[in-house]
Amino acid sequence: MNLSTEAPEVLLEKGYLNYEIDPTLDLFEEIEKLKKEKNAVILAHYYQEPDIQDIADYIGDSLGLSQEAAKTDADIIVFAGVHFMAETAKILSPNKKVLLPDLKAGCSLADTCPPDLFSKFKEKYPDHTVIMYVNSTADIKAMSDIVCTSTNAVQIVESLPKDEKIIFGPDKNLGAWVAKKTKRDMVLWPGSCMVHEIFSLEKITKLKNRHPNAKFIAHPECEDHVLKLADYIGSTTGLLKYTINSLEQEFIVATESGIIHQMQKASPHKTFIPAPPTNSCACNDCPHMKRNTLEKLYLCLKYELPEVNLSKELIEKSVKPIKRMLDISAQYGL
Ligand code: 13P
Ligand code: SF4
Repeated sequence: MNLSTEAPEVLLEKGYLNYEIDPTLDLFEEIEKLKKEKNAVILAHYYQEPDIQDIADYIGDSLGLSQEAAKTDADIIVFAGVHFMAETAKILSPNKKVLLPDLKAGCSLADTCPPDLFSKFKEKYPDHTVIMYVNSTADIKAMSDIVCTSTNAVQIVESLPKDEKIIFGPDKNLGAWVAKKTKRDMVLWPGSCMVHEIFSLEKITKLKNRHPNAKFIAHPECEDHVLKLADYIGSTTGLLKYTINSLEQEFIVATESGIIHQMQKASPHKTFIPAPPTNSCACNDCPHMKRNTLEKLYLCLKYELPEVNLSKELIEKSVKPIKRMLDISAQYGL
């Protein structure tokens, strides 16, 4: 097979290499072998399917994954997550090869903030500092002053003087929650995540009634009426830690259901109930995160494709707000 002529076309059309895999292969073993041979590391987000989480070298939230990408000494980073996360890894480690098992693993939230519209929006608030949630494209980060994640958004805002005027994007739910916690009046970009906006208040209320001892925990990308019911609100790492440290035995979890794999592994005797969405499904999967599979990960590591590449100029511009986030996070011990 001539990869140099065939692969790009397949990638353009499918977003991944759709080559046949011998069904007798033990993919866990093969991936381990390839990792050693190529000095590669697999970084996976908590929303990945359990098999991918189990083969990863590091599993974490967006902040942890960025910190890991910045300090790894591997030659290849296989990013089992979505496109903006792999871009962030490339920006932080421009000399490393960054692979994403499926190039079409996007993010509905990042898509709500296109550069042309955001640039016009920014012009209306010339004296504002732009704090940008990491769930945004590299072009949008390049137009921002500081990046944040859900783990450090409160601290990033609080690191600025009280009278600083702030634009917060692209997630309006996270922005509103941070504004309330920090008592700051911020200009919010009106973006949101399709996965976190679909939780059903009615079904959650019924579930809480049926499980009166369960703690209801939610990611700050959820809407305000859902967050108002929550016993604890936090990033994926925050939610995981809460379930580990809590003496309670039952939890209703309002975020993408992939995190439950780690919760269950850490606390095998506790019960985790995914919060139900308004549609007919029992739990909530991110269709972008779940585009990655063990098969795609294997092929991507074997052929070193698809690769995420960015121009030197874009890396130079977008690295500044990301580094600022990492520096502030370190000051706060995050
Ligand atoms: P965390 O940074 O909390 O892992 O969130 C990432 C994400 O995409 C939430 O939808
Ligand atoms: Fe984007 Fe939402 Fe999926 Fe997170 S869960 S990657 S914010 S679409």
